[in-house]
Amino acid sequence: MSATLELQNQYEFDVYPKRDVVIVRGKGATVWDENGKAYIDCVAGHGVANLGHANEAVIDAIVRQAQILITCSGTFYNDQKALLLEKLIRITPKSLTRAFLCNSGTESIEAAIKFVRFTAKKPNFICAMKSFHGRTMGALSATFNPKYRQDFEPLVPGFNFVPFNNFEKMQQAITAETAAILLEPVQGEGGVNLGEKDYFQKVRKLCDETGIILIIDEVQSGFCRTGKLFAIEHFDVEPDILCLAKSIAGGLPMGAVVCSDKIEAPVGNHGSTFGGNPLACAAASAAIDFMLEQKLAQQAEEKGKYLAERLVQYNFRSVREIRQIGLMIGIEMKEKVKPYIIQLIDEGLLTLPAGSTVLRLLPPLTISYDELDAVLEKLKRVLA
Ligand SMILES: Cc1ncc(COP(=O)(O)O)c(C=O)c1O
Repeated sequence: MSATLELQNQYEFDVYPKRDVVIVRGKGATVWDENGKAYIDCVAGHGVANLGHANEAVIDAIVRQAQILITCSGTFYNDQKALLLEKLIRITPKSLTRAFLCNSGTESIEAAIKFVRFTAKKPNFICAMKSFHGRTMGALSATFNPKYRQDFEPLVPGFNFVPFNNFEKMQQAITAETAAILLEPVQGEGGVNLGEKDYFQKVRKLCDETGIILIIDEVQSGFCRTGKLFAIEHFDVEPDILCLAKSIAGGLPMGAVVCSDKIEAPVGNHGSTFGGNPLACAAASAAIDFMLEQKLAQQAEEKGKYLAERLVQYNFRSVREIRQIGLMIGIEMKEKVKPYIIQLIDEGLLTLPAGSTVLRLLPPLTISYDELDAVLEKLKRVLA
């Protein structure tokens, strides 16, 4: 057995079901294991590596900033933070005017929940069935799947669930105590379920009429993944709060809660030691510049179509449905997906599940067409 595997098995307080692959290096859309075997990486750190592994622009920014200043308390001003905040406000929907920086997706949801309760002075949230918003107690309370929740109850009270894309049920769920509606534009973990434009537009109108705050979770769908800079742009809808993380800093841990003027900041009553540190901010600025310069949204749109059109043509008997938006692809199988994922690893392709029957592909958006063809060949061998 590999020494790394042995050490990790012995010492890690492990919460992840593991695959027996020791990844030691990455470049672009390829990662290598400790034996030198190459894999095309359609996991990309659960949708983090949108810019590809070892992206030169991000490396340069990290190396430069590490030599200047890595950490800085949020009680002081910092040049890198200021630059990133300006950039974030410039690229996110116009309604959003200020951002709070943290370290992960779940933290961005946690902060949004607190900002909403502070602003609205009401307790309740409406979320969607099949939603996923994170693992900390607040974000978990907004997450639907009982599998994630049941061992940790009691959770935070005040979270109700309605079917996704069903406006009538949403309307019926509203009460005088509803502070906010929290939705993903595309449910990633829940199975790559695509939101509908008409639904999101109606929900926006409902929020405008009732004063309810609309939180959009783009932790997974943001930063060009779906063929737009942010998935909510597909619906011509602007949120009151936008939660971001994953690929925001090119692979370094970072999250952001981007807020409209409606949202009040609990000054002195929320914070994060590492949130918005200069190193992550410098990496994020470089990552965002790269996304814009390289037109990653357009690349995701074109490459996603290329993959999906071919997958549909293959007409695999084992596949029930293919759901795709940009380079966020869900292949719904007629049976459990895990054996396929294991077989694909042998073929040199890393994929991830979204629920028990959906095979999910979240490759770096920089993946080449040759690599896409290789992905298709490997899928053909295993799914046919
Ligand atoms: C939509 C969504 N929200 C929140 C999270 C939680 O993010 P993190 O794992 O960075 O805490 C995830 C993670 O997959 C996610 O997909």
